[in-house]
Amino acid sequence: MCGIVGIVGQQPVSERLVDALKRLEYRGYDSAGVATITGGALQRRRAEGKLVNLETRLKAEPLNGSIGIAHTRWATHGAPTEGNAHPHFTRGVAVVHNGIIENFAELKEELTAAGAEFQTDTDTEVVAHLVARHRQEGMGRGEAMHAMLKRIKGAYALAILFEDDPSSIIAARNGPPLAIGHGDGEMFLASDAIALAPFTNEVTYLIDGDWAVIGKGGADIFDFDGYPVERPRQTSMAAAYLANKGKHRHFMEKEIYEQPEAIGHVLAHYVSLIENRADPVLSFDFASIPSLAISACGTAYLAGLIGKCWFERYARLPVEIDVASEFRYREIPLSPQSAALFISQSGETADTLASLRYCKKLGLKIGAVVNSAESSIAREADAVFPILAGPEIGVASTKAFTCQLAVLAALAISAARTRGTVTENEVRALVRNLAEMPRIMGEVLNSIQPKIELLARELSRYRDVLYLGRGTSFPLAMEGALKLKEISYIHAEGYAAGELKHGPIALIDKNMPVIVIAPFDRFFNKTVSNMEEVAARGGPVILVTDEKGATASNASKLDIMHTIVLPAVDEIIAPMIFSLPIQLLAYHTAVFMGTDVDQPRNLAKSVTVE
Ligand code: F6R
Repeated sequence: MCGIVGIVGQQPVSERLVDALKRLEYRGYDSAGVATITGGALQRRRAEGKLVNLETRLKAEPLNGSIGIAHTRWATHGAPTEGNAHPHFTRGVAVVHNGIIENFAELKEELTAAGAEFQTDTDTEVVAHLVARHRQEGMGRGEAMHAMLKRIKGAYALAILFEDDPSSIIAARNGPPLAIGHGDGEMFLASDAIALAPFTNEVTYLIDGDWAVIGKGGADIFDFDGYPVERPRQTSMAAAYLANKGKHRHFMEKEIYEQPEAIGHVLAHYVSLIENRADPVLSFDFASIPSLAISACGTAYLAGLIGKCWFERYARLPVEIDVASEFRYREIPLSPQSAALFISQSGETADTLASLRYCKKLGLKIGAVVNSAESSIAREADAVFPILAGPEIGVASTKAFTCQLAVLAALAISAARTRGTVTENEVRALVRNLAEMPRIMGEVLNSIQPKIELLARELSRYRDVLYLGRGTSFPLAMEGALKLKEISYIHAEGYAAGELKHGPIALIDKNMPVIVIAPFDRFFNKTVSNMEEVAARGGPVILVTDEKGATASNASKLDIMHTIVLPAVDEIIAPMIFSLPIQLLAYHTAVFMGTDVDQPRNLAKSVTVE
């Protein structure tokens, strides 16, 4: 949702600004821009589309200047054109912004009536005009900034450069994250610490309502009322997150193949805690809570749905779950004795953070299942359960999903033990099964690719695809559909297999392939019946099952398109193992169709606006 960077340096900064933007491209890649102060004047270069276009522009028309701000955009207001690209300039003021100014329409009307001339269709431009107007009224830079902040409503991370001050950047945060980096005689600013990792690992996070004047030697931070405040300086671990594709064509492929190792890290952390009875949940007393709330968005929400099945089944813990964009507004009457889990790869998703704050206000104990321990969601939680997936760069989530599942499985087992709903023998058996995952995942990844590539070629001919599953395979069906649609742009839906007859069966004909996810579990026969209903109506079927299921379904006798056969595994690890063909099928279909797999159109990796 837009990435912003700023550098107050000793040397020309434009190259480093673009370098930092590259690490923020996951936040948006519709357009990008850089502004510096060169020869006493604000100068900018902007370009529509990917960052590489801005780089080309800068090569042709380099920018000097040892102070600058930069932006990579995910459009909210105004088309992703060069004209709407940040930084926005108005009368000696340059602005980059991440977020949404909710009252921009009324401010724009007011400013236009007072003579301001708007150049863009963005909400952000009102910020530049407000600050410029306050300067014209005679206010100093900080005073103008403070007065502007009092007028705007909404979510923002802002960085502002003043033409008459080549030695500082003023920044503000309300919602989207902002990290100030401390260098040696230089200072930095960015939407996250990863962008700054090559420059410094010493960072200070602004909190909501803060604004700061950042000069070469340090930063003065103020609260919303303008009083000076101290915020802690911390050492960021973000440098470990600098990643490359290795031998893989795309980050998504690399991340799919990293899953056995990533899951290994999760298990090393959580299983040993369970085995040593130092339960990860001891700080998070599952034993006495009457219910659990879970909220998240997208793939993380689908992981939560699978987690719900485990908490209810093993720990007999009722779970209230919803997508965060609904959860935050439903006014759910939750008991303060309950606990809530928020799942997020980025740890910055605006709706998930708002749901967390809703539960916190009600007095619930808050747990964060996150990949980034330095994220806002992690920082506001009472307990953090890291998913230890390492950097996930591909916009379509893969290893973060399976690592979220592994953490939720470990938490559910741990909760079951503390609640006395499973015996010690059952705990041992469940843990033994979890421990098998890295090996089985490795075997699956080594064996299924040729088959998946064939199927992907076939699938790419269709415009719509239906995914079906029951139990934990139902959320997995939705995840399969989400993965396929976001990177191949083929329309896909995931349905509970039992719902087929309640509507979607009307769609079945030879043009509607149905991917049936059916491990040989207690739902298998019912799901296979639904599959036969599809086959009987001429719908091509891809059955994703295991060795036992392949034998039992007598798949070869059905008029189905194909069967993907996985090793037979215990129910608790089936969702993680069955994720692999689902992810690879989406990946290879997208590769075959020639889409931009790692940066699919219109999407961003971190969604910091609602
Ligand atoms: C889909 C995907 C998204 C995210 C969602 C939540 O592949 O990645 O649906 O899962 O935007 O993001 P986080 O987990 O960062 O809160």
